[in-house]
Amino acid sequence: MGELDTLTGSALAQIRAAGTLLELEEIRVRWLGRKGTLTEQLKSLGALPAGERPAAGAGINAAKNALQLAIEQRRGELAHASVEQQLSSGAIDVTLPGRGELQGGLHPITATRLRIEEIFRRAGYEVAEGPEIEDEFYNFEALNIPANHPARAMHDTFYLKDGRLLRTHTSPVQIRAMQRGKPPLALIAPGRVYRRDSDVSHSPMFHQVEGLYVDQNVSFANLKATLHKFMEAFFEQDLSMRLRPSYFPFTEPSAEVDISCVLCRGAGCRVCKQTGWLEIAGCGMVHPQVFKACGIDAERYTGFAFGAGIERLAMLRYGVNDLRLFFDNDLRFLAGFAGGRW
Ligand code: DAH
Repeated sequence: MGELDTLTGSALAQIRAAGTLLELEEIRVRWLGRKGTLTEQLKSLGALPAGERPAAGAGINAAKNALQLAIEQRRGELAHASVEQQLSSGAIDVTLPGRGELQGGLHPITATRLRIEEIFRRAGYEVAEGPEIEDEFYNFEALNIPANHPARAMHDTFYLKDGRLLRTHTSPVQIRAMQRGKPPLALIAPGRVYRRDSDVSHSPMFHQVEGLYVDQNVSFANLKATLHKFMEAFFEQDLSMRLRPSYFPFTEPSAEVDISCVLCRGAGCRVCKQTGWLEIAGCGMVHPQVFKACGIDAERYTGFAFGAGIERLAMLRYGVNDLRLFFDNDLRFLAGFAGGRW
């Protein structure tokens, strides 16, 4: 038994000194494995006189249990230490942003559209949508542009084989809105439009925003005030606005909207071609023929409508001088808008 105590003592010392899990496993095999020291001791019990066997056996088993317990404890310590060590040597700050992650951003046209929507929503307008594939009724006829009307030539329409077309403006959404709902109506309709036109300042696909307000007693003054407030909110500056008489088949009277140049504040610069003014939208009072096509009583209701190009608004707001930059999707250009505010 004295020998067993000595053996157990040295085994326990080895276990406590084990520096790695691998080392600990070697120690376990050496003492408790199939050919381990204590296992051999158990095997040698048979050589003892029968009377001594139970006490000797119990002693060996107790030693075995003590070693097993010590091994488990040391295993726990070593495993814990290795996690601690990994944590402290790794020192990862999980709150840091990942390396090499570029921050995305909205395309400037999308950002501009959202900005327009936000301003009109605040004024109580709804945002409406219509299909990009239209037919002649919605794109032309209901808007008082009958076949052979000279205005059709200005639209450079893309026709589909079945006679339908890609909408050339967002004005058809006015018609759909007036067919669907009863006045009062206050909505804007931003979206893509298409024309067979492509050069430095024209793209075959571009974006417009349409506006429509119909109720009793809507006046031209309401139109002017609405557009003026919108322009000032959009460009975040006080500006002058003027309306020049114009012609659109779907409005009467019709006007072109000019604002004082947002870059030189009216002094005259390259962008406004030294005039101090920027053409920014078309507008007018909804034509009675248009009301008629939508089943709205033109004696009872009046309304105004307007249409503006979103690219133009974006170019002026962001100081972009080439329309094509919006469609090239060159990341060097787009990255300038990443994470930016609208
Ligand atoms: N649809 C016109 C265009 O594409 C723009 C426009 C002008 C819309 C006057 C309107 C309006 O609603 O009243 O050129």
